[in-house]
Order: sequence, then structure tokens, then C-alpha cells
Amino acid sequence: MKQGYCIRPGVSALPEYVPGEYRRGFIKLASNENNFGPSRKVVETLKSLADKTGLYPYREGDVRAKIAKYAGVNSENIVLGNGSDEVMDLIVKAFRGPYAGMYPSFPVYKLAAKIMGEGYVEVPYDDGFRFNARKFISKAEGAKVFFLCSPNNPTGTSISDTDLKKVLATGKLVVLDEAYVEFTGKSRASWVRKYQNLIVLRTMAKAFALAGLRIGYGIAPKEIVDILMKVKPPFNTSSFAQEAALAALEDISYMRKNVAKIRRGRDKIYNALSKKFKPVKSDSNFILFDVSPMTADEFFNKMLSKKIIVRKYGKFKGFPGEYIRVNAGTEEETEKFINAVNNI
Ligand SMILES: Cc1ncc(COP(=O)(O)O)c(C=O)c1O
Repeated sequence: MKQGYCIRPGVSALPEYVPGEYRRGFIKLASNENNFGPSRKVVETLKSLADKTGLYPYREGDVRAKIAKYAGVNSENIVLGNGSDEVMDLIVKAFRGPYAGMYPSFPVYKLAAKIMGEGYVEVPYDDGFRFNARKFISKAEGAKVFFLCSPNNPTGTSISDTDLKKVLATGKLVVLDEAYVEFTGKSRASWVRKYQNLIVLRTMAKAFALAGLRIGYGIAPKEIVDILMKVKPPFNTSSFAQEAALAALEDISYMRKNVAKIRRGRDKIYNALSKKFKPVKSDSNFILFDVSPMTADEFFNKMLSKKIIVRKYGKFKGFPGEYIRVNAGTEEETEKFINAVNNI
């Protein structure tokens, strides 16, 4: 039968995003989640909302204001997303490409751009997954918008101030994804006051443990936020997500305590992995490591037999090695992972 519709160019050929595996009763260290869970304030708030589902969400303004205070900017610099994933979508809806980003990096940038039929150039990291501003700028010359990630998922490596300034000096629109910024403590959010071409992406999913509620945000100069607000679906963050974000931001000390524990766990994992494999130094809550000459499949299955799920990458095109990524869990989960590694 002749089709009466037309798929956007590029969409049919796209791979579907495959999230980290979940199995009941297994320790999941595959999606860079925060296994300490949210603040009690969040839990109590959500319980109290159970009979309020009849209302459309109405606290977007309050959330923008509270996030702005947390990030050290003004409300007019904040746009909320159904996860920061959605802010990426808003950007590609609003701004023409072509786009460019690093490789390997978070796959959703490329997916979002391709869905809109935009070109996307991937520039490989240098050895050790280090960012090379000069190489990036020259290889991404044809692009109008850059997606950068610091600390980068999946490598855990960061972009220095000097390198970021070089990229910003091109005048292109620079999207800097800071999903894991709380684990480094070093944000460039305040740079949006100086750079009119900078959008910083952040999320409540990681440090604040609200991944399941889907709430993230963009921080940008007012002119850019105004544009993104025009393409944003009206009620893109749920009332539960909004109230949970407000409650989580009332309990920043809880978040900071867990971030400190996660960082300690990450460093323990790094030390344990160093004895057998080749881990990459990470500024985030996870570690990427090369398990060769073992294959990523073999390592993944060994962990699975111990009821631990890690993220299997295998080979990165153009890079030697067989890669796995693991995030720090609770102290007990991290200990179990380390024991499993020691027993390989
Ligand atoms: C670099 C990066 N950005 C964004 C996200 C997604 O964030 P959100 O849950 O807010 O959509 C992730 C999730 O893994 C990530 O690793």
C-alpha cells in the first residue's frame, strides 16, 4: 500500500537509544544514577501530592527562581526541560545546524540533531580522551552549534577553562553539558553573563537523584532562553518533578553529603581497577576503563554472574581497547563491585 505520510530524512536510519540494562534484584551501576536516592524531603513532598494529579503543573516560575539561585544566575537565564535531554531537543528545534560534538560523548546530542535532519560532525578526543580545542575548532569548522560535555560522559574527562574560552571565541553557539558538575564542584554557569553564545545544560537526575522524575535545565543569556521558551511544550515538566526539584533544593546538604560519598567510592573503584585494567581518571560519578585483552562482553558477563550490571561499550571507533563504564553506587554496592573485580 502506498504510504500517505513522509518520514523526515535521516529518521529511518537512526539507531534507537538503548538505556542501561535493568534487572530486578541486581546491583545497577550502568546508568550513572545516584543509588543513594533522593532527600527525605523529596519523598515526603511526593507522597503529599498523590491526590493532586488533576491540576496542570503551575510552579515552573518558582522552580526557575530556585534553580537560578542555586546556579548563581537569574530566573530569566533558566529554561526547564523534561530532563536535560529535552533541553537538547529544544536547542535543535530552535537553532539551525550543522552541529558538532566530541567522540565518544553523550549520544543524545547527535540523535537530537539527526532527528531534525541536521548534519552532525563528530570530532575524536585525543589520546587519553583529552579535549583538544584547536583540533575541535578546525574539524568542526562547518558547524554552527557545538555540543560539548564536561565532565564528559562516558570518559569522565573535563574541558579546561582555557580550551573552553578558545571554543567560545569562535562565536558559534556552544552548548556545554554539565550533567555531572556537582561531582567536580566547578561550573561555568556564571559565564553566561559574559558569553552571549553559551548554553549550560544541567540536570537534577544525577547529584539530586531525581532521574525518574525527568527534570533538567538550561542556563543561558536571556535572549537565548526567550527563544527556547518559544519552542518548549507548555507543561513539559510535571507537577511532581517541579515539587521534587523544589524540595531537593531545600536540602542541598543531603546532596553534598552523597556527592562526597560517591566521589570516595569512585576513587576506590579507580584504585581497584588500576591493578588489573586501564581506567581513565574521572571527574564524575563513573569510570570508563579498558578491559583488554579481555573483551567487554566477557567482563560484562562476569559481573552479571555476580548480579552486577555495568555499561558495556566494547570498541570505540578509532580508539584501541575494549571499554566498560561503571558508576559508584552506595558504599555496599561499590564494595561488592570491587570484590567482584578483585576476584576476576
Ligand atoms: C552527559 C549527560 N547529559 C544529560 C543526561 C541526561 O540527563 P536527564 O536525565 O536530565 O535527561 C545524561 C544522562 O545520563 C548525561 O550523561
